[in-house]
Amino acid sequence: MLTTLWLLLSFAVSVLRSHFSISCPNRHCQLALLSNNDIFLHCNASGAQWQFFFLSVKTTWTNNPFSNSNVETMPDGSLLIRNPLPLQTGFYNCQDKDGKKVVQYEIDFQDIETIHITHKGLGQEPLQNETLSLGGKELIFTHWEPWQDCNRCGEPGERKRLGYCYIEEPLETPMPCWLYLGDVNLWSSRTWPEMQVEACHVQCTSSNVDYVTFDNFKLNEKLGSAWLTCPLGSIYK
Ligand SMILES: *[C@@H]1O[C@H](CO)[C@@H](O)[C@H](O)[C@H]1NC(C)=O
Ligand SMILES: *[C@@H]1O[C@H](CO)[C@@H](O)[C@H](O)[C@H]1NC(C)=O
Repeated sequence: MLTTLWLLLSFAVSVLRSHFSISCPNRHCQLALLSNNDIFLHCNASGAQWQFFFLSVKTTWTNNPFSNSNVETMPDGSLLIRNPLPLQTGFYNCQDKDGKKVVQYEIDFQDIETIHITHKGLGQEPLQNETLSLGGKELIFTHWEPWQDCNRCGEPGERKRLGYCYIEEPLETPMPCWLYLGDVNLWSSRTWPEMQVEACHVQCTSSNVDYVTFDNFKLNEKLGSAWLTCPLGSIYK
């Protein structure tokens, strides 16, 4: 009998990068993401310089966000944010080596610890639209992403979609909640991000083949349990 089991990994950074890297062809993008999921922000500039402005602290622009930084500029200019926190909601500016602005991201890292999960088949209700009155009649609602792929093929499976809190003023473009609210204290469960799950059944095709990447772990029988972390793991896929 095997006393140890080795789970070996095939660590495909290029695959991970294409999954979790975000680019902004318009040079100015506003988006909502989940906290605690690593992401790459793309910036096509050699010698890229990133600057940050965090809405929660409302200081000034800075290029040195925290002493124990989870933010790293990659050789190709993109920015890797490991385990982003809700208080890192704000503006991310990339400049080229001459100081010219290449791209600006405005990102709301919505708190994954409050995510509201519902299963459609069990009749669980997602959060309902509400009206705020912060000055006008603002609608607060969940902006849903498309359903992700079914997790199985040829047998019943499940699929999920993520939804982010957005606020819309009449006749205006909706904005991610915390980019709209800034440092306004609105402690309402309506500001939670959401995940919805439903049953699915799809035929198998060759494109259904997917890879799971593990780090290198040794499971010891004496321990009885093990904690596996998935490197660069993400709820996005
Ligand atoms: C990056 O910038 C270069 C030069 O400006 C351009 O030729 C290239 O197409 C850009 N690449 C991408 C992926 O946008
Ligand atoms: C909630 O508001 C959004 C944005 O205006 C809209 O697309 C959606 O249909 C609304 N949902 C309900 C249940 O009214």
